[in-house]
Amino acid sequence: MQLVTEENITDLAAARWGTAHDPRLAEIMQALVRHLHDFAREVRLTEPEWMAAIQWLKRTGQISDDKREEFILASDVLGLSMLVVQMNHRLDKGATPATVLGPFHIEGSPELEYGADMSEGLAGTPLFVTGTVRDLDGKAVGDAVLDVWQADTDGAYEAQLDDVVGADEARLRAKYSSKSDGTYCVRTIAPLGYSIPMDGPVGELISQTAISHFRPAHVHFLLNVPGYEPLITHLFQKGAEYLDSDVVFGTKAELVVEFEHREPGPTPDGGTSEVPWLLAVYDFVLQPEPATGA
Ligand code: BEZ
Ligand code: FE
Repeated sequence: MQLVTEENITDLAAARWGTAHDPRLAEIMQALVRHLHDFAREVRLTEPEWMAAIQWLKRTGQISDDKREEFILASDVLGLSMLVVQMNHRLDKGATPATVLGPFHIEGSPELEYGADMSEGLAGTPLFVTGTVRDLDGKAVGDAVLDVWQADTDGAYEAQLDDVVGADEARLRAKYSSKSDGTYCVRTIAPLGYSIPMDGPVGELISQTAISHFRPAHVHFLLNVPGYEPLITHLFQKGAEYLDSDVVFGTKAELVVEFEHREPGPTPDGGTSEVPWLLAVYDFVLQPEPATGA
């Protein structure tokens, strides 16, 4: 008979999970068991505390659905998402750094022309984000698809506004393509800083701390160009509130861009603005995929 004690249970459980058929799963599960047991020992976890944690996980699952990703949010605020991003995207100096995807990206955004407005019909200060997509050697990357999304001026993403948006209407999200010389131009409205959703288990936990629950003003970009490392990133407005306290640890100095004030007049899409507008100029620099051995 196997005699289980407080002293040997970790070795027993790790050995059992080490039988996973896939070696990588075995490695992950053994390490997980050891770290979980060490954690419980270190904090001398009580049964009521363990049950409270189980209930919290249960509520996190219950509030999650196709549109709400509470587990991603939990991983984000714990700094785990950003740690995983950084470990897996150690890019060359000069390449645009990656940051968190966040829970609000929606697949299948409409393709818009150079400079077309992805904020059609929404109030806000016009913002043009323009520049080039290039590689580390400065070579233009044409036909790069830039998948762009952002929150509205109330800090809400389309994914959070199920009832307001029609099924086939995209709101503050679109795909733009770079021209053959690598240039791209996004027209939108200036984003504002916003709070992460605080009405679920993650918010419940954050409310018991002094943690700021805000993110600085930003626009999200996803570039998945054949031959290059996929890039998920954001551009942040220079001088925005919360840059130093982003609740999901997503800010990086290289991604902070001046949103320059412009008076009414010609705009980068070849049109004219009747009202003052903002200009953000940024070159996305892609890292080539490592060559695969023959
Ligand atoms: C976002 O920027 O969309 C976001 C990222 C992580 C958590 C919550 C929101
Ligand atoms: Fe965001």
